[in-house]
Amino acid sequence: MAGRWVVPRSRFVPDIDFMQCQVFLCAAPCRGGKPLCGTRGAQRVGEEEHAPARMYIRNKENIGKGEKYMKEKLAQIKAEALKQIEASEQLDKLNEIRVNYLGKKGQLTAVLKSMKEVAPEDRPKVGQMVNETREEIEKLLEASKRKMERALREAKMKAEVIDVTLPAKKNSVGHRHPNTIALEEVERIFVGMGYEVVEGPEIEKDYYNFEALNIPDGHPAKDEQDTFYITGDILLRTQTSSTQVHEMEKGKLPIRMIAPGRVFRSDEVDATHSPSFHQIEGLVIDKNITFSDLKGTLAEFARELFGDKTKVKFRPHHFPFTEPSAEMDVSCFKCGGSGCRFCKGSGWIEILGCGMVHPHVFEMSGINPEEYTGFAFGVGLERIALLKYEIDDMRLLYENDIRFLRQF
Ligand code: DAH
Repeated sequence: MAGRWVVPRSRFVPDIDFMQCQVFLCAAPCRGGKPLCGTRGAQRVGEEEHAPARMYIRNKENIGKGEKYMKEKLAQIKAEALKQIEASEQLDKLNEIRVNYLGKKGQLTAVLKSMKEVAPEDRPKVGQMVNETREEIEKLLEASKRKMERALREAKMKAEVIDVTLPAKKNSVGHRHPNTIALEEVERIFVGMGYEVVEGPEIEKDYYNFEALNIPDGHPAKDEQDTFYITGDILLRTQTSSTQVHEMEKGKLPIRMIAPGRVFRSDEVDATHSPSFHQIEGLVIDKNITFSDLKGTLAEFARELFGDKTKVKFRPHHFPFTEPSAEMDVSCFKCGGSGCRFCKGSGWIEILGCGMVHPHVFEMSGINPEEYTGFAFGVGLERIALLKYEIDDMRLLYENDIRFLRQF
């Protein structure tokens, strides 16, 4: 045939005689790949100028020609992509190429969209070719990306050479607070004797802090422990003794516990006072607990804390929730009891309050004082830290100056 019949796509109608027209559409390159249009009806054009393009041919002989065209077109797309990939030097550029060829509006997708112009018999093969081309371009992109990343990594490593002979940066390491060291020591001693470590609330009901400890409204002991009130009935606890009540109310006997924690009082700050400090409460309840148990336990505690030679002395005292009550002194671990500046010449240092649990306290918490007895004690944690580390001003413990803390 000397020429081709070209029919503008918009004019293509199925009743045209397929057997006579070999080609209905032209995607001649001279029109930028667009079908020759604007011509009404079929048009004959020179063979050399207008190669057959998207073919919609029912004529059996021509089956396969659309596939051939597509094959060429895809090869051309692939070759162009390869050229661009090889020329690109940056990851961004590769991304651009990916979008341009494989993206939603990319060239390969456009080819897929034009499938409807391919003879139905050719479509599966052409579809497969498009997919293969996509895979190949993807592979090329991936390989190029990996190559670029490797080069970048190598360049970075070269730039970041470490000089191992440089002096190391000094890490500043924190330090345990003397209070913490003292608390851990006390806990170690009592846990070793089979005690449990428990905690109680810092915000407390008047009942737990005073009433249930035998300090009713109007009792002078309440005046001694003035505190911060949240409401008339809720306050910041003044003593860890309130934990005794919580533990007794649980109804699980026997009890052998220590309860460390923060307490509050409306005190002015000075070398020996602070509005917030710490105590460790102790409580033992069982059948047949006597004052000897109290003495033996606390003497052992003192020896472990201050040294083997430490002696203890119990002086009668008054606490509303214990009867009898006492204060315990330890022999001065500085002078051994002969008297020095540390123990103010007396040879003894006051260390804690203690006593046998008051029967009324038992009753209020639902424990039968005929059946059970017990002892309790309360130690000031700061007092132990100050004594043990020979610190003469309590305020130093709250400043958190690392130069001070580092010494312990
Ligand atoms: N809670 C008392 C206080 O803050 C200390 C104390 C004394 C606790 C005697 C006790 C005890 O358990 O038996 O002054």
